[in-house]
Amino acid sequence: MKFIIQGGKPLTGKITLAGAKNAVSKLMVASLLTDEPCMLENVPAIGDVEIVAELLRTIGSEIEIVNGTATVRTPEIMQSRVPELTRRNRIPILALGPLLSRAGEAEVPFLGGDRIGPRPVDLHLKALEALGAVIETRDHSYSAEAPHGLHGAHIKLEFPSVGATENTILAAVLAKGKTVLENAALEPEIMDLVKMLQNMGAIIELGAHRDFHIEGVEKLHGVTHRVLPDRNEAVSFACLAIATGGDILVRETKQDHLITFLNAVRRLGAEYEIKLEGIRFWKPRAELQPLDIETTYHPGFMSDWQQPFAVLLTQVPGESTIHETIYEDRFGYAEELNGLGAAITPLTECPADAPCRFNGKGFVHVAKIAGETTLHGGKLKVRDLRSGMVDVIAALVADGESEIEGVEEIDRGYEKIDERLRSLGAQIKRI
Ligand code: EPU
Repeated sequence: MKFIIQGGKPLTGKITLAGAKNAVSKLMVASLLTDEPCMLENVPAIGDVEIVAELLRTIGSEIEIVNGTATVRTPEIMQSRVPELTRRNRIPILALGPLLSRAGEAEVPFLGGDRIGPRPVDLHLKALEALGAVIETRDHSYSAEAPHGLHGAHIKLEFPSVGATENTILAAVLAKGKTVLENAALEPEIMDLVKMLQNMGAIIELGAHRDFHIEGVEKLHGVTHRVLPDRNEAVSFACLAIATGGDILVRETKQDHLITFLNAVRRLGAEYEIKLEGIRFWKPRAELQPLDIETTYHPGFMSDWQQPFAVLLTQVPGESTIHETIYEDRFGYAEELNGLGAAITPLTECPADAPCRFNGKGFVHVAKIAGETTLHGGKLKVRDLRSGMVDVIAALVADGESEIEGVEEIDRGYEKIDERLRSLGAQIKRI
């Protein structure tokens, strides 16, 4: 499937955020921890939800999704060994803990997801092992057993990994005894998972130093939970508003999820206004200012925001820099944007004095963006989910017609993006 886009026009109007891709999939996995029904509201119609639904159905869950509300019930674990699925994302490894808690054994396929670096899972495996799992890495899957059940442990993550934090929490809530997780990730999507688990009967405290304290309970029960809005979508729409010289009210956007991003918008000289309905973003008459940003874990500037922000920076006079400290290889999109007329130079050297775990390792993890450049429409091919959205944003900023091939990958994370963007005046056709 392709998108044909006529760009170069300011986008204006109101758009409503969908439920967060990076929360909903974990909340669906959390439902495995109880035999009672769990109802999730604000579930986006995206490919990632279908992939997790396939995983859960294979395990034995009954799932019904009607008008954005998913009811998931897993009365019994019918199959705790799931070595293959028809499509891949990064979620199956999170099912290890719940499966070990309910069935004592588990097998899940290797992970997929965006190609943005090696994306190891050593921290997940170490944490689960500390909780009592015995894990074997097979040809295409992880196989695990907990011969004596899962038990509490003291775990310190070497890096505040989102996935390893979620995995530890999901495994610890039904483990025997107390788990302390130090140097945890605290992304709003993780806190959404914690809220759902707390409402299911879990005991999870958040300490003052990025530490979770989890007291294992005997049993969890069903819950009704509303998925938090997708702040990564919010950033894409904000960048679109500013980069096209438009004015967009992004409904449902929560200020406390975007504090760092909003600061970047202000430093750039662009405007935003916090309203009851959401946050409005627009480009003022005055010239925008170049900016240096560094991606990091929450509450810092998220890695997932740097790609749409890069398109925006191509429209800002002067030289801006993005220093990516989460992924080794997340500037693959630079070549495509340069093909449209951008002047982005990917580099391996960290900016002076920036402490960085990639320092001196030769990874292309810095980009210098010289602006302002005029982008012209062209032919683009989607590399992965987030860079696919970059293609869409760049095509909407660029003059003339663009053709984007492989948009199924964008559908994995963005609900009906073409339809929703048309409501802002975008000329975008799916063929
Ligand atoms: N890491 C390790 N070992 C591990 C786990 C992580 O070294 O066992 C390091 C790696 O360097 C890795 C980095 O930590 O590259 C970040 O990994 P993390 O575990 O924090 O991320 P994730 O759980 O794989 C989630 C989101 C990503 C988002 C990151 C960072 C989901 C499904 N994915 O990935 O989202 O970029 O957190 O916030 O929640 C996206 O949505 O496009 C996306 C890539």
